[in-house]
Amino acid sequence: MSASGKSFLGLWLYRSGEREWSVKQGSPIHKRKEFADRETTKSCPAPPSPGDRTAIIFTLKNQVGNLARALQVFQELGINVMHIELQPMDPEATQADVLVDIECDSKRLQQVIRMLKREVASVKYASVDDSAEDSPVTPFSVCSSFDFGDMVWFPRKISDLDKTQNVLMYGSALDADHPGFKDPVYRKRREQFAAIANSYKHGTPIPKVQYTEEEIKTWGVVFNELHKLYAKHAVPEYMENWPLLVKYCGYREDNLPQLQDVSNFLKHKTGFQLRPVAGYLSPRDFLAGLAFRVFHCTQYIRHSSDPFYTPEPDCCHELLGHMPLLANPSFAQFSQEIGLASLGASDDDIDKLATLYFFTVEFGLCKQVDGSFKVYGAGLLSSVAELQHAISATNKIKKFDPDITCREECIITAYQNAYYFTDSFEEAKEKMRTFADSIQRPFGVRYNPYTQSVDVLSNAKKITAVVSELRGDLSLVCSALKKVSAMDENLDVDGIVNLLQTSVQVSGERSPASLGSPDNSDNSQGSNKELQ
Ligand SMILES: [Fe+2]
Repeated sequence: MSASGKSFLGLWLYRSGEREWSVKQGSPIHKRKEFADRETTKSCPAPPSPGDRTAIIFTLKNQVGNLARALQVFQELGINVMHIELQPMDPEATQADVLVDIECDSKRLQQVIRMLKREVASVKYASVDDSAEDSPVTPFSVCSSFDFGDMVWFPRKISDLDKTQNVLMYGSALDADHPGFKDPVYRKRREQFAAIANSYKHGTPIPKVQYTEEEIKTWGVVFNELHKLYAKHAVPEYMENWPLLVKYCGYREDNLPQLQDVSNFLKHKTGFQLRPVAGYLSPRDFLAGLAFRVFHCTQYIRHSSDPFYTPEPDCCHELLGHMPLLANPSFAQFSQEIGLASLGASDDDIDKLATLYFFTVEFGLCKQVDGSFKVYGAGLLSSVAELQHAISATNKIKKFDPDITCREECIITAYQNAYYFTDSFEEAKEKMRTFADSIQRPFGVRYNPYTQSVDVLSNAKKITAVVSELRGDLSLVCSALKKVSAMDENLDVDGIVNLLQTSVQVSGERSPASLGSPDNSDNSQGSNKELQ
C-alpha cells in the first residue's frame, strides 16, 4: 500500500449526514452528486486508463477481520492505494464504511470490485475524472472494442491474455467452508501461489515451486487412487499420453510435476501451453485462453485434511484430469474451437459455451466400439467417487446435443444430473462447430499460429487472404494425395475428397460456387451477412 498522494486526495471526500459521502468543492470529482452502485446497475463509465484514479466506498460486514480481508484484495491485485479513510463507527451502528482512493486501470478495477463484493457488505465507486461527468453510461460488455463499435472486447494477440485475469473465486481469499480456511499455514501458502499467478506475464517461465512434504503426500494419495481407475475407465486417448507424462514431466506418486515442464511438453505435442491462475477465472476469460491454446492452470493443491475433496480446481484436477488429453491433437483442437467461438460472444452465449465446456471437457464420456462408456472429462478423471458414479449411472448418460446440453444445470457441489457422450472427439467437434455457427457474431475468427494472434474475418478481403493461405496448404495436400494414392490403392481418396468438399459448405442461400469470386473490396458487410 502506498501513502503517496495521501496529503491531498484525502481532502476530496468527506462524510456528511448519517449515511452519505459527499465531495468537497474544488475536488476533481466535485460535480458528482453521489456514487452509483455500478455493479448493481451493470453499467460503467468510459473505462479509466492505466493510472486513473477511482474512489471506492465499501461497507464492512460485522465480522472480525473483515477490514483486513478487504484491504488484502488491493494488495493481491498489486493496486496502488493512494488514500484510505475509515468512517468511525457509530456506537449503535453494526457496520462501518471505508473510503479508498486507488490508482488502477479498468481491468483491475473490475477485478477489485468483484473481489471486494465477496468480502464486504456493499461496494460503490466513482471515477476521479471530471471529463467523465457527462459521458453516457456504457455497459461493461461494450467497452474497449476493436473493430465493431459495440462489440465486446476480446484478446486479439496472445499477450493480451495478461489483461484477462478476472479471478472470480478463491485465489488467496478462501471461503469459510473451504477445508483450508482455518489453517493459517495453508492460507499463507495460497497467498504465495496467488502472487505467482497475479504477477505472471505471457512469455515468461512459470516459476517452479518447491512443494512441501505435506503437499507431495496429498498429491501421492490422490495420484494412487485415481491411477487405479484410469486403465479401466479413461478413454484410450488419455491413456496413450500417460507414459509420456511420466517420462517427460515426472508424473509419479512422489513427485508433483512443475507447470513449466508440463507446458513445455504440451507445446511440443499440440501447441498448448499453460498459464498459472490464482483461482476460478471468469468463464469468458478462461475460454478466451483456449482460443490461443493457452490453458489457465492452478498451481496450488487442495488441503491435506481431505485429499478426495476440493471445492475448486487444484493441481490434482489440472495435472491428472486435463493434461493427458490436452496432449491429444484432436482434443486440443476441440478445446481451441470452443475458445474461438467465445471471442466477442454475448454473455448469454458465453454461458452456453461454458456449459458445453463443462459437460464435455469436464464431464464428457465417449462411447466405445463395444458399447461401453469411457471417460474423458477432467472433472470425472480427478474425482474417484464421481468417476465411478458416472460410469455406473447409465440412466443419466445421454447423447451430446449442444442445443439441449447447453441448458443443463452445472452442479459443483454434488454429482451431475446428467452426463453426455459422443462416439468420438471428432463427433463432439462437429457438433460444436454447428453450434458455434449459431452464435450471433458479425464476423468469424481464425487463430494464426505464426503470429499467435486472432484474425478477425469481418469482410471479403480478410476472408480472401485466409483462403489464399489455405489454398497453399490444400495444394500440398492434393500433391501428397496424388503421390500416395499412386502407391497405395487402399487409400480412401474419395473419402478424403468428400471431407474436403463438406468442409467448405456454406449454409444460406448462396452456394459455395457463387462464392468463388469474392469481392476484394474492404467494404462488403452485405456478403458477410449472407455467409452467416
Ligand atoms: Fe477443469
